[in-house]
Amino acid sequence: MLLRGKKVLLGICGGIAAYKIPMLVRALIKEGAEVRCVMTSEAGQFVSPLVLSTLSGYPALSAYTAQESGSAVWNSHVELGLWADVFLIAPLTANTLAKLAHGQSDNLLTATYLSARCPVLVAPAMDLDMMAHPSVQSNLKQLTSYGIEVVEPEFGFLASGLEGKGRMPEPEHLLERIQTRMGRGPLSGFKLLINAGPTYEPIDAVRFIGNHSSGKMGVEIALEAVRRGAEVYLVHGPLRFTLPDAAFAQVVPVVTAAEMERACSEWFDRCDGAILSAAVADFRPADPKANKIKKDQAPEAIQLEPTPDILAGLGTKKRTNQTLIGFALETDNGLDNAWKKLTRKNLDWIVLNEPGPETGFGTETNRAWLVHKSGEKRDSGLVSKAELAGQILDVLTHAAP
Ligand code: CTP
Repeated sequence: MLLRGKKVLLGICGGIAAYKIPMLVRALIKEGAEVRCVMTSEAGQFVSPLVLSTLSGYPALSAYTAQESGSAVWNSHVELGLWADVFLIAPLTANTLAKLAHGQSDNLLTATYLSARCPVLVAPAMDLDMMAHPSVQSNLKQLTSYGIEVVEPEFGFLASGLEGKGRMPEPEHLLERIQTRMGRGPLSGFKLLINAGPTYEPIDAVRFIGNHSSGKMGVEIALEAVRRGAEVYLVHGPLRFTLPDAAFAQVVPVVTAAEMERACSEWFDRCDGAILSAAVADFRPADPKANKIKKDQAPEAIQLEPTPDILAGLGTKKRTNQTLIGFALETDNGLDNAWKKLTRKNLDWIVLNEPGPETGFGTETNRAWLVHKSGEKRDSGLVSKAELAGQILDVLTHAAP
């Protein structure tokens, strides 16, 4: 009953994903919330107001006035806006988004939005090309600048028959976002160390040994963990993109494996768990030169030495109330090798990646096996890195002490 006593207002627009909202109403009520619904007139084509009223116990409103016992009753948008502790608009269509971004108020839902004093979340859902349109993206940025929280749409099959980014997240994920916004997220109070990206091991002042990791997978995990309420300590190597703004507890940029090890082992002791997704270089030049090596002084060979295995190091000092999740990148005998790594490094879970055209370094999507120390295995399916991040955090939530 994580939402006991909380008043949740749902705003529903005319999009196909509206058919999932009754499940959200039920889930919210199960968590102890009081729920009211306000909808656009088009939303009624996709979800029955009667179903919403029956489940929530309040009329699902779409008009400013209603007829009751022969006389007109005013459905006050001001009263609704003040009543709510949190307001989620889902699915948010491109049309209503444009109105919210520009303060246009031509129906009960948009007027209620302008009157609301509580935190507002929106879950845009539309076809992939509409979603990607610069005007929609700019309107979403506008909402973010007003302090509205945008629940990113998911990647997958769309009602149009196309496949891409545009699906409304499932009701359980919307529920989690509401819980987190209310300070009652599934990972609220959980201190989580995450590492991400490659490490660069210097050969001389300008050259290094590195790898193709972009850091995207680890950063997606970190962002999703913040959304779920965790206190996130992110240690990252050189990223191939700008780290998005998020409420991280601490961000430590590093370059080499040695620096990453120092930061991770310092933070791990204070954390409840760690997810180590970084592509740490396994070897480094044994004798890096402080200056640039001149062409005519090129060595015949570069002597290498192993870097510290950060994950194995954390595995040796892991407390029984800490959860440790590692990654394995394998091209052959994936499950066997991942299992060996899990036992050798004393992990609770290992995420096995097998690089392919749609998975691995630099791709938008990924597919992984999530293997537990009990032998349980879960196939993530081919999903966006953000969705895989969610699946990894789901196992962490269940493992959390
Ligand atoms: N890892 C680490 N420190 C290293 C190397 C790897 O912490 N020096 C971690 C990675 O972050 C990952 C896990 O160990 O979570 C497995 O990494 P992977 O490259 O698959 O395996 P290795 O242990 O390096 O073994 P091998 O290269 O032989 O497969």
